[in-house]
Amino acid sequence: MEDFDYLGEGEVYLDGACQSLRPRPVIDAINKYYTEHNSCGERVKYKWGRETDELVEDCREKVLKFLKLKSRKYTVSFTLNTTYGINLILSQIDAGKFKKVMTSEIEHNSPFLATMAFSKRTGLPREVMKRNDDGSIAISDYDFAGAIVVVNCASNFDGRKLLNLDELTKAVHKAGGILIIDAAQAMAHSSDILRGTEVDAICFSAHKLYAPSLGVIVWRDELEESLLPLWLGGGMVDDVNLDSYKLSAENKEHRYTRFESGLQAWGEIVGLRAALDWLEKRPKADWDNLKKNYAELYNFLKQSEKVHLVNKEANPTMAFYVEGLDSHLLGEALSREDIMTRTGYFCAHYYLDHVLHLPPLMRFSLGFQNRPEDIEKVEKALGKILH
Ligand SMILES: Cc1ncc(COP(=O)(O)O)c(C=O)c1O
Repeated sequence: MEDFDYLGEGEVYLDGACQSLRPRPVIDAINKYYTEHNSCGERVKYKWGRETDELVEDCREKVLKFLKLKSRKYTVSFTLNTTYGINLILSQIDAGKFKKVMTSEIEHNSPFLATMAFSKRTGLPREVMKRNDDGSIAISDYDFAGAIVVVNCASNFDGRKLLNLDELTKAVHKAGGILIIDAAQAMAHSSDILRGTEVDAICFSAHKLYAPSLGVIVWRDELEESLLPLWLGGGMVDDVNLDSYKLSAENKEHRYTRFESGLQAWGEIVGLRAALDWLEKRPKADWDNLKKNYAELYNFLKQSEKVHLVNKEANPTMAFYVEGLDSHLLGEALSREDIMTRTGYFCAHYYLDHVLHLPPLMRFSLGFQNRPEDIEKVEKALGKILH
């Protein structure tokens, strides 16, 4: 695809679950920021600053529009990445208002460890829920009274989704809990699961969404009631006295400052805006191509007796191991053919290693940059190894 024209002849990128490739319009928007209006957002009055302000504000609106959420209910704050967003929220939760913290077994270390640390720091018990093969949670098996629930809505090793997200949200809210969603893997290709949601916070990484390295927290206004202002600094206050201050976030218009201490990554925010525009413009043919490519590769893997797939169904992200073959060596062999993949436990050590007892795995994660020729090349390379 011309937007990824920098990919060399024969280079196959299958690691979008870690970082998407950035399409040209995103790179161009970042270059434009640095070369034409390099300025600090939301502070400066000269013309470069005004241009940055407009784009940053528009980016916040575009994130909400992308998720079909209302600005009346939700605020968009920028941060470093998903991990930082989750930890930032947990670090400010008023633990005295809650009874426990809950997560699930298939989590990335990002929520898995953050909830562990939260439990150790606050003394609140931590509970790890099971996930069904289809990604849903058996809601009736759990008591969500006063629970802070932190779970993903799409897995980073097989893409399984939290299919009963809306039911879970209702159950958690009914029991007086809050629900924080790790949407790192949902935003690029499965954001429909979040559209119009009522969850309390969504944390995601722009770098898995064809955008530059950046984190985003989309949070419901009510979350404020559960937070203590413990992380403060520049850009967050309207007035400061000797030992008191007035938070800018008290004004709804500036509520986003609640999580934005210090200068932000303005160029990256401008890049995220361009990525959201680019994603919105993806024609049906691009989605069809993505689906055809991952279905083809999944079926190819499924047919081999030596391949053990973690996936129960086809998904742009798939993890597997080949019987009798070290996945890291396989990754190196594929790399010699310019096929870029990931190997290991993908920061989901607990579930893959200690629940499923699997050896280190190989992960393919496809994106819009992949063409049918890429899939043919991967199959040919694997074919030589499998037979
Ligand atoms: C499901 C999930 N959660 C969280 C993360 C952490 O993302 P980041 O490293 O951008 O904070 C990842 C990264 O791969 C992920 O896949």
